[in-house]
Amino acid sequence: MSNILVGVTGGIAAYKSSYLVREFIKAGYNVKVMMTKKAESFVGHTTFEALSLNPVLRDEFSPTPISHIDYASWADICIIAPATANIIGKINAGIADNELLSTILALKCPLVLAPAMNTNMYNNVIVQENIKNLQSKGIYMILPAEGLLACQTEGAGKMQEPEIIAKKVINILNNGSDTSLKIENDMLSGLNILITAGPTKEYIDPVRYITNKSSGKMGYALAEEAYKMGANVTLISGEVNISSDIPNIHKVVSAEDMYNAFLSFYESADIMIMAAAVADYAPVYENNKIKKNNDEMILSLKKTKDILSYAGSHKKDNQILVGFAAETNNLEEYAAQKLAKKHADIIAANDVSRKDIGFDSDNNEMTLFFANGSITHTGMQSKKDIAKIILAESAILYNEKNS
Ligand code: PMT
Repeated sequence: MSNILVGVTGGIAAYKSSYLVREFIKAGYNVKVMMTKKAESFVGHTTFEALSLNPVLRDEFSPTPISHIDYASWADICIIAPATANIIGKINAGIADNELLSTILALKCPLVLAPAMNTNMYNNVIVQENIKNLQSKGIYMILPAEGLLACQTEGAGKMQEPEIIAKKVINILNNGSDTSLKIENDMLSGLNILITAGPTKEYIDPVRYITNKSSGKMGYALAEEAYKMGANVTLISGEVNISSDIPNIHKVVSAEDMYNAFLSFYESADIMIMAAAVADYAPVYENNKIKKNNDEMILSLKKTKDILSYAGSHKKDNQILVGFAAETNNLEEYAAQKLAKKHADIIAANDVSRKDIGFDSDNNEMTLFFANGSITHTGMQSKKDIAKIILAESAILYNEKNS
């Protein structure tokens, strides 16, 4: 198995790097860790020694005077997580005033940085220039997510979840690159992405309808992010209170309308993402307003067309289909069933019994079930960041199928 060198620098996210090391060990990789002095004020080096079963390269302790050369030549890939503004600046300037930086200068393998810092620091033009400059030299960046930071500010700067970082690092190691990182740098360009969003409304009579709690935030986040990354986005949207500058938005009301709109666009789509909360049943429509003649009434409902099922059974080999699963219980079991039954490439499942994620919330937490059996947990993040992950994963699959 390959050798992964994990560098930990001095930020509060340093504790998350112990989970990152565990992810690599669980996946069967050999891991060595190096830490700056500042990182050790957040987490002790013994934690990393216990997890990696290897001595940690530290400023305070270098097993030999040339340990930085040994660690650098041992590594097949090096990931610095968290990467502070200070370390990013120093790497960009070629400074080597500690063991970790000396090792980085001696590397012959791919280098990946996972920046994490306060939002104002992250947005600082100098930090942004350093990041872009390093990217242009072939250094991979796993850009931070948005969220509530340890400093109690809200915004960009939160280190990505260890599972996500581990997956991207392993992708680079195995494939020589990671499509999702290119995507973060505007590489969905030119792909046709069809997205459904929001609720459907099923009319009972001219004045009454059945609907659900979907706000459209998740589907619109996907559409906005894909659009920003240069994709040709077609958004089929139920009635929502969101305004958007995306040019191709097709507003629909009912599940039947959504199905018909879908039929017009799906053939030219490269990636289809079904985030809408579509009614499973619609009332048998009464042309006139129903009168309240009885104490009880029974509504007759009939099954709507299942758009995801249709997409799964008609998709071409080069198309990617992402279905959603909104569950209140048995999430894993039901999502896995949907994955198989609907012939999707990915099912993005969320627990809609929770108030802090799912319907109408600005955040979500999803488990992605892949047709090859792998599973990714996103952790709780803004819908915008979850959207980026789903788009990245879809594009990775698209590239695999189309290369
Ligand atoms: O809109 P928000 O407020 O931001 O909330 C986001 C969300 C909770 C709506 C979203 O994250 C989500 O889970 N969307 C899917 C909701 C849903 O209908 O889930 P489901 O498990 O009932 O359906 C499974 C899949 O089949 C979905 O991809 C759905 O779009 C699709 N479906 C369902 C019925 C139908 N007739 N046709 C379909 O295509």
